[in-house]
Amino acid sequence: PELIQPQPYRPAYHFTPPHAWMNDPNGMVYYKGLYHLFYQFHPYSNVWGPMHWGHATSPDMIHWTHQPIALAPDELGAIFSGSVVVDWKNTSGFGTADNPPLVAIFTYHNEADRLAGKRPPQSQALAYSSDNGASWTKYAGNPVLKAAPDQGDFRDPKVRWHEASQSWIMSLAVGDHVEFHASPDLKQWHLLSQFGKNVGAHGGVWECPDLLPIRVAETGGQKWMLLLSINPGGPNGGSATQFFIGDFDGRNFVLDPAFASQLEQDGPQWIDWGRDNYAGVTWSDVPAADGRVLMLGWMSNWDYATKVPTSAWRSGMTLPRELQLHRQAQGYVLHSLPVRELDALKGRISQPQTATATEGLSLSGRALEQSETYVEFSLPGGNSKAYLEFSNAQGEAYKVGLDGQTGRYFSDRRQAGRKDFSEQFASKLHTAPRHAQSAVVRMRVYLDRNSAELFADDGATLMSELIFPSAPYTQVRFLVDGQAAQPAAFTVTEIGSSQTS
Ligand code: FRU
Repeated sequence: PELIQPQPYRPAYHFTPPHAWMNDPNGMVYYKGLYHLFYQFHPYSNVWGPMHWGHATSPDMIHWTHQPIALAPDELGAIFSGSVVVDWKNTSGFGTADNPPLVAIFTYHNEADRLAGKRPPQSQALAYSSDNGASWTKYAGNPVLKAAPDQGDFRDPKVRWHEASQSWIMSLAVGDHVEFHASPDLKQWHLLSQFGKNVGAHGGVWECPDLLPIRVAETGGQKWMLLLSINPGGPNGGSATQFFIGDFDGRNFVLDPAFASQLEQDGPQWIDWGRDNYAGVTWSDVPAADGRVLMLGWMSNWDYATKVPTSAWRSGMTLPRELQLHRQAQGYVLHSLPVRELDALKGRISQPQTATATEGLSLSGRALEQSETYVEFSLPGGNSKAYLEFSNAQGEAYKVGLDGQTGRYFSDRRQAGRKDFSEQFASKLHTAPRHAQSAVVRMRVYLDRNSAELFADDGATLMSELIFPSAPYTQVRFLVDGQAAQPAAFTVTEIGSSQTS
């Protein structure tokens, strides 16, 4: 069916499923030169349903090849989110010393049990692959970790090897907090500790935790970061992902004192202030020689995900990003940058043509549909607003920029295109704090048919947003209070298609 219907909103350089419904990224693991991406998949409709794990592979996180469905529901339940590890030492015994297995740790969700109120509907289970992820066998001893009798939310295991304690550590979302469990072999688990009951945002259920070591750029020292998705309760409504910085001794995750006071002063810390970056976790087993922390998220929001105006497929992923932790005077700032592999798709660069004083840069054709716009300008003074405006002949415009009065970034999709499908989609202006202190503002905005991703101040502030213009934008202008203005730098780079096969 996807060949019959026109798909004007299907992204060209972001990952989307071949057809049908997708949500969270799952089981992201790097193995033998390929990045694996599994994902929450309902192959039989374009709304959420009994979950499978879809699968795709890529040499660079940009060009993807679709693979057969990896995991399908069975009598224990549907297959919710989870992770994949390379069991290098074959601790599980699922492989051999020469051919270490890939092991998936996922949540079974049993809807019949939930409806009947019979027993806790969620439990953790294993599947393994001895052929580099091509085929998967579920472990006969499933489930390996069951919830307490009264625990409904008990899901999204993210597992990593902890060298110091020679054990596997699992982060698990348990309603309003995270539990850490440990195991020598991925099969036997014991509870280590809990985190989060009284810290961070609690406007909704906690989901998709990820505990990982991360280097501090300024000191070279190591910290531990906990990524934690929450729905609802995000800074601009609905789903969003927060982060915590601290230390982990193999048992407890303890907040860094500086980060704890940051939380008290500034409130929850979000990896992305846009409304469309959710349930993101990091890639496992990225080689030490590479050393990057790599992640991507689901580019949607539970507030309206099932209603967005696409039908043959629904939902894409964000651009894959590299995360860098910075220690500034005011505290920790997490930067995200598009992975450098994206550079291979970059094409023609255009400079603004100031045809008339009010016009700004105009581009004909569809050059803006897949583009990176870079603009550099001085901090707007007083109560001025400086922003990029992407528009089409239909009179629709998406605006993204900085408000001098509040000192905050904003993303305005209220007139950007279709929004009739959900009242929750575009009723408000979305805003984000500026973390950089410099007088020079730098914004990079990536457009890809149905999305706009802002990376401001070298990734210090992010806003990833879906947009549904009824025709592609053909003009971009830099404006200060509605007037065309001269920024210090202004370029538009075309981005090619990654042609998922
Ligand atoms: C997050 C989430 C997870 C769950 C999955 C189900 O979006 O709710 O907590 O495992 O989606 O599809």
